[in-house]
Amino acid sequence: MSEPQTTANDREQSAADADGDTGPTLAPTGTPPPGPRGLPLVDSTLAFVRDPLEFFSSMPEYGDVARYEAFGREFVVVSDPGLVEEVVVARDDEFWRGGFEHEFGELLDVEGLFFAEGERWRRQRLLLQNAFTPARIRSYADDMVVEAVRLVESWSDGEVVDVREAMSTLTLRALTRSLFDLEFGDGRADRVRRWVHAMGAYSDSEFFGARAVLPTWIPSRAEREYRRATADVEALVEELVTERRGSEADGDDLLSLLAIGEYPDGSSPPAEEITDQLQLFLLAGHETTATALTYACWLLAGTEDVWSGLEWEVDAVCGERDPTFADLPDLAVTEAVGREAMRLYPPLPFLQREPHEETVLAGYRIGSGTTVQLNMYGIHRDERWWADPDVFRPDRWVANDEDADGDERTVLADPDDRPEYAYFPFGGGSRHCIGMRFAMTELQLSLATMVRRVDLERVTESIDPTPKISLDSGPVEMRVRKR
Ligand code: HEM
Repeated sequence: MSEPQTTANDREQSAADADGDTGPTLAPTGTPPPGPRGLPLVDSTLAFVRDPLEFFSSMPEYGDVARYEAFGREFVVVSDPGLVEEVVVARDDEFWRGGFEHEFGELLDVEGLFFAEGERWRRQRLLLQNAFTPARIRSYADDMVVEAVRLVESWSDGEVVDVREAMSTLTLRALTRSLFDLEFGDGRADRVRRWVHAMGAYSDSEFFGARAVLPTWIPSRAEREYRRATADVEALVEELVTERRGSEADGDDLLSLLAIGEYPDGSSPPAEEITDQLQLFLLAGHETTATALTYACWLLAGTEDVWSGLEWEVDAVCGERDPTFADLPDLAVTEAVGREAMRLYPPLPFLQREPHEETVLAGYRIGSGTTVQLNMYGIHRDERWWADPDVFRPDRWVANDEDADGDERTVLADPDDRPEYAYFPFGGGSRHCIGMRFAMTELQLSLATMVRRVDLERVTESIDPTPKISLDSGPVEMRVRKR
């Protein structure tokens, strides 16, 4: 382990510096952060490609700010909550998403909110957040439950299902309804699904597979299929926009909001921008939520007492009916399960930023082309902030309380004294996840709907997660036991 290591005092100093209180820095200004020495020519690329999560998890050994080179780029990994907060909140205007993230957007030819910067981003975010108000989420909630019921009812007793595949189908159906108001069975929803699948296959092969290391200029089959599906989804969105603009009714899906919405200057988003946003929301909202649900199911099936606690809560709150949006505040254990699953397996395991110009973080020099990776995966499992960091313990998120009648009840709580950015599955600062409320609602409602009907037993005994569009679990087989 190389010096300097960050101590609790150093962290306080760093936070004080962020507040404008100048004091001693952690290392002489301008020192590059410590880090592994890669093989000549290929730097750390091979180690990264061989096992990205293991490589990434080893970085805190060099300190809370550590540097490596891979893919011909320089990366700095930040593993301290106070420094994460500094980057995404206090010094937000000094950083942008950066070239590395943008390369991914360019490869997929997807723009939209995630990839927008500056004034353009602000305008888009203001318009789009109208689709994620509590009232809107309430209107999507029933569809989420309908889709979860449809999925679970399609399973038979004793059947082995791939839960990753099933959750991916579930979240895509729920998203297609909320974004486009297209139902499963509608041929137009299939066109959206085709695009999503083609996008997954293409990004797997080009960005996360061998072609990322050994680029070739001959378009692969995955690329050709992706380009075809993209042209088709663009045509579909154009059709739907024309339909919505010609209709009297105000739909509450995102597409309607964009089709009839206006920016403060009275202009409407052009068709191309609407397509971009919808593609981006499919990209950002589908696999992430499916990933969180997959790990939640797998972790639950490994801990009988948590599963029975969850069943008990859902039975007490819902009785003989399915859950609704109004039940959410009472489903504290359900929410704790979702939170804890995302602590251990955050769907986006690290956030990336790049400074606009060379800067200093915790005393270390960060060059202008450097990708700063905020190590969510590492921080979520850091024993400085978490007792039993690798253990699935949803009870850490709840406490017992008494209601007005003196009856005991379980409520959400975060009793441990830890920094705010010790847990940030939805990011933070101005660019925090716009779909956070949507995702938490879907997580709670889907889990509650499922546990009312089935128990799941692990068939896949171990999972080896790989960071792709989200933290991919690989296939997760589980046996269904109908309740
Ligand atoms: C469990 C599910 C989800 C997780 C863990 C998640 C996580 C995140 C995180 C960490 C960020 C911030 C990235 C950064 O700062 O670099 C983000 C941004 C974003 N998320 Fe999510 N997300 C989830 C679901 C959703 C859903 C359901 C939608 C939409 C329907 C969505 C849409 C977006 C968008 C558009 C952004 C970019 C926001 C901006 O740049 O202004 N996400 N998400």
